[in-house]
Amino acid sequence: MSKKSLKSQKVCSKPLADKLERKIETLLAKMTLAEKIGQMTLFTAMWAETGPTIDRNFLQYVREGRCGSIFNAYTAEYTRSLQKVAVEETRLGIPLLFGFDVIHGHRSIFPIPLGEACSWDLELMKRSARIAATEAAAEGIHWTFAPMVDIARDPRWGRVAEGAGEDVWLGCRIAEARVRGFQGEDLTADDTVLACAKHFAAYGGAEAGRDYNIVDVSERTLAEVYLPPFKACVDANVRTFMPAFNEIAGMPCTASRTLLTETLRQKWGFTGMVVTDYTAINELIPHGVAADLTQAGQLAIEAGVDMDMQGGVYFTQLEALVNAGKVLPAAIDEGVRRVLRVKIELGLFDDPYRYCCEKREKSRVLSPEHKAAAQKAAEKSMVLLKNEDDTLPFAKNLRSLAVIGPLAESQLELLGNWYGAGDGNQVVSVAAALREKFGKSVNITTIKGCEVDDEDDSQLKAAVTAAKKADAVLLVLGEYGNMSGEAACRVDIDLPGLQNRLAEEVTAAARGKPVAAVLFNGRPLAISRLAKAVPAILEAWFPGTMGGQAIAEMLFGDTSPSGRLVMSFPRHIGQIPIYYTAKNTGRPISSDKYTSKYLDCPNTPLFAFGHGLTYTTFSYGPLRLSAAEMPMNGEITVSITVTNTGNRAGEEVVQLYLRDLIACVTRPLKELKGFKKISLEPGAAAEVKFTITAAELTFVGPDLEPLIEPGEFEVMIGGSSSVADGQRFTLLPK
Ligand code: GLC
Repeated sequence: MSKKSLKSQKVCSKPLADKLERKIETLLAKMTLAEKIGQMTLFTAMWAETGPTIDRNFLQYVREGRCGSIFNAYTAEYTRSLQKVAVEETRLGIPLLFGFDVIHGHRSIFPIPLGEACSWDLELMKRSARIAATEAAAEGIHWTFAPMVDIARDPRWGRVAEGAGEDVWLGCRIAEARVRGFQGEDLTADDTVLACAKHFAAYGGAEAGRDYNIVDVSERTLAEVYLPPFKACVDANVRTFMPAFNEIAGMPCTASRTLLTETLRQKWGFTGMVVTDYTAINELIPHGVAADLTQAGQLAIEAGVDMDMQGGVYFTQLEALVNAGKVLPAAIDEGVRRVLRVKIELGLFDDPYRYCCEKREKSRVLSPEHKAAAQKAAEKSMVLLKNEDDTLPFAKNLRSLAVIGPLAESQLELLGNWYGAGDGNQVVSVAAALREKFGKSVNITTIKGCEVDDEDDSQLKAAVTAAKKADAVLLVLGEYGNMSGEAACRVDIDLPGLQNRLAEEVTAAARGKPVAAVLFNGRPLAISRLAKAVPAILEAWFPGTMGGQAIAEMLFGDTSPSGRLVMSFPRHIGQIPIYYTAKNTGRPISSDKYTSKYLDCPNTPLFAFGHGLTYTTFSYGPLRLSAAEMPMNGEITVSITVTNTGNRAGEEVVQLYLRDLIACVTRPLKELKGFKKISLEPGAAAEVKFTITAAELTFVGPDLEPLIEPGEFEVMIGGSSSVADGQRFTLLPK
């Protein structure tokens, strides 16, 4: 089988697919039960620990042919040394599969996924994943445990940082882009890796925003909100899946045959491999659905789990289960086939060492091109939340700038919560980037003023003094990288520590001068207090290796902000869950008492989904429909003229929202169904068009299957989900 000829499963020609399957059957026939179970076993090496490590004897198990995959090992040299053991010291020489959490870049670290999603640039996100795959594959990695495609609407949950925010339609488009970026067109290529759709499913619905907590959502919410991005991954030919730790309505995902076999394989046609999350089979015991590891192992294999990550349950229990007749040998064979299939798709049997290449490693990792792409991604991910009196960009003829805040000089923090093989020493802090940019022409003083999250106010006075002396003030505030991500949830999502007080006192001291805040955070924050105190706020998320430089360029107008939020920022934590696809309810908010609202807070977020300012302004002309009625099998074109009414070039994300006014089930007030990111020079205008077809009008019917109904729809186009005015059209019956 030639290296170039073998394509990933779905695009294989029939003869090739047959050849691949014959290869699997030939190998399977030679394998002992112990060797088969070895292929269903994944252990961690020691280059990273991403969970409660149970067993560290992975090399011995590889040598015994009882471990077929390793994660948390990388570099050409190290993976080659491990691969040699598998290929040259075991009876059948089946190559190892090397997995790693390449979440937002490998060595060149990109913005955290939630931040990069705010670029609303699918090509950019696909390219970031492409570059991550290129660098990871250059270091011997075959498989990334990404993209995380969990829809999330509760910013208390730390893992919102890893995803694409609250919206289903956008989440599906981003999932597709990331899968295609990681896997490319040819999995045998030396710069592509297997992607892994995780965490299947509804992990973002963890009750109270507390990680690993129960998820109790309706079948409708599962079908409408949590499953679609995973289906989008299957449609994008993702080759592996990872079930979530959580239960859904009483059934842990790792033991859910409904999810892992009936939905994923029988309904959606997924042909790849399912790997558990870290020791998730073992956790069926504390979940209370398994009395011991034997029963846990049986539940997992019956559900459709092909590989056990780090738990050692298949490793220790499956042979006895088969010998006792509790698990059919055929079930083991099916799991082994799926593992062997992805190894063959990668070309590992053609050349087990082809991903271990020091030459490629040197030329591809942290290349200038990759760093430039990381800086571009950081720039496009930033969201200008507020900019009163055009505070930003700062004037370049400033004589002095006070850079104040606990993260002003931070490097590693800019990489966020899961930077894997990233290196904080590669990062230039905001303050250093500004010093590099201006040299001696601007006198830049930096002072922390306070820590991120303690109550020591001893530095506040000095910060206030620095603010009084400078021409302008930049506050650099936020969270530590480890305050979001896995097992990092917060009950209070305001700025931690004394940062609000620092911002208030510094801003008061700098009255009449430009004051702006840059935020580093892994989740939407309830920053009403900061927003009241500071005239300008630039949301930078955790921007990655080149974040410092990207921020320095943007603060002084050499680049312009173009990001838009993909997750609502609440005014108060009490509003959570808050998301724009709200429903009207039977008593929609009004000034009447008996309507759906709070006594002490508006229903609206502080900053809405889709919100983001630029250094210019845009106006929208009247919305035009190509017709007032649309046949069921027809389409309608909607167009609108967008004008740059400011004096700087800028990018606008023109967003298309639809509302189904009357349906057999309640429907949201609006749903994103399209967007176009356009760039306009000052004074320029562009006509933006969208085509609406039945696809955009289809929803989840009472039987949880796709449904489209004739009736009235409203079309809204604007620069954020706050858009209100729309135009209606009628979908005609068949
Ligand atoms: C972790 C995470 C999962 C990750 C895996 C391997 O617990 O839940 O996202 O891919 O373990 O590190």
